[in-house]
Formats: sequence, C-alpha cells, structure tokens
Amino acid sequence: MTFLTVYTDGETPETLLETADAEEIERALKEIDVRLRHWRVVEELTGGADQDRILDAYADDVARIVAEEGYSLVDVAQLHPDGSADWPERARAAREKFLSEHTHDDDEVRFFVGGSGIFYLHVGGRVHAVLCEPGDLLSVPKNTTHWFDMGTEPDFIAIRFFHDEDGWVGDFTGDPISARIPSFDAIATRRAALGGAS
Ligand SMILES: [Fe+2]
Repeated sequence: MTFLTVYTDGETPETLLETADAEEIERALKEIDVRLRHWRVVEELTGGADQDRILDAYADDVARIVAEEGYSLVDVAQLHPDGSADWPERARAAREKFLSEHTHDDDEVRFFVGGSGIFYLHVGGRVHAVLCEPGDLLSVPKNTTHWFDMGTEPDFIAIRFFHDEDGWVGDFTGDPISARIPSFDAIATRRAALGGAS
C-alpha cells in the first residue's frame, strides 16, 4: 500500500501531509503531474524471480502500457540482501547512485513487483515522498527534480519503462536537499509506527 508524506523544502522541513489513503495520494500527485496507477500483484513473485519470469507474469499489463505510452525498452531492476560479504558495499553503492536530487530527459516509470522504495518529488516548494510498494506504477515526468531512496537494506523488484534506449542518466542539480528530508528508513519506521504496514 502506497504511503505519501509531503514536506516543505526549507532548511527545517515541516510535514504537511501524511497519508495511506489511495484517493488522497492520487489526487495530491496529480496536482504535480505525477501519475500513480495500480496493477494487480502476482503474489508468487514477491520473493524474487528472474527477469523473463517477471515480465511474463505481467505481460498483459506491460503490453498495454507500452502500446499506450510508446515505451521502447522494458527491463527489470532488483536488489535483495543476500548475506554475501560484499552486500553492504553493493547496497551502499546502489543506494547512493540516485540519492541526490536530479532530473532525467525521459520520464521515470517504475512498477513495483516486490519490496519497496521511495521517490521524492521536489516540485513547487514541496517534497512529495512516495513510498511505493507492490502493485504501484509511478510515472515521473521528464525534467521533474527528484531522488530515490531504496533504504540501507535495499529489497525490491521493479519493472522499468523507457522511451530512450540510449541509457539512463541523471542530471544532478547539486542541491543538497535530500540530506535534510527524512530517509527511506525513517519514513518506513514512521509508517510502521502509525500502524499502516501493508
Ligand atoms: Fe531518477
């Protein structure tokens, strides 16, 4: 179940909204041109599976949105704690990659098959932190300033949709804002304390 927190973007961010209400979340995101849709979850994939099996399980949904939106590339990104010696370093490096505010010249479109992650959308003096969970399809328009936090123990499977096959790059703004907005770990803890665990 999606969880949205909205913050002011000043030096001392204040929480303006905290909600797990699907309609309220969709409405708030629509105001900043971000689309959130929901697909039925294929439960048996939540523990992880290979890319072909994941794409096959969602073949109808994927084909429909590809036809609607004209994506030219679809793939799967996933990360799970595996207990290996290099896991802490791989987890840290993966998290760091898009943890600072940036933009892309393509839409950023992700469907969460399993696990969770937070997209932080910095628009109009506010930060919308969208905690995405299985079933959530989030579409962030190109050039939207944002960052992504997968937490200190990344655990997710996401289908990614691209219009541009030339690779996925971030244009980093240099704004240190992501350091002063609550992290994935902090928001996940807060959500659990509110009793909203899915
Ligand atoms: Fe991004």
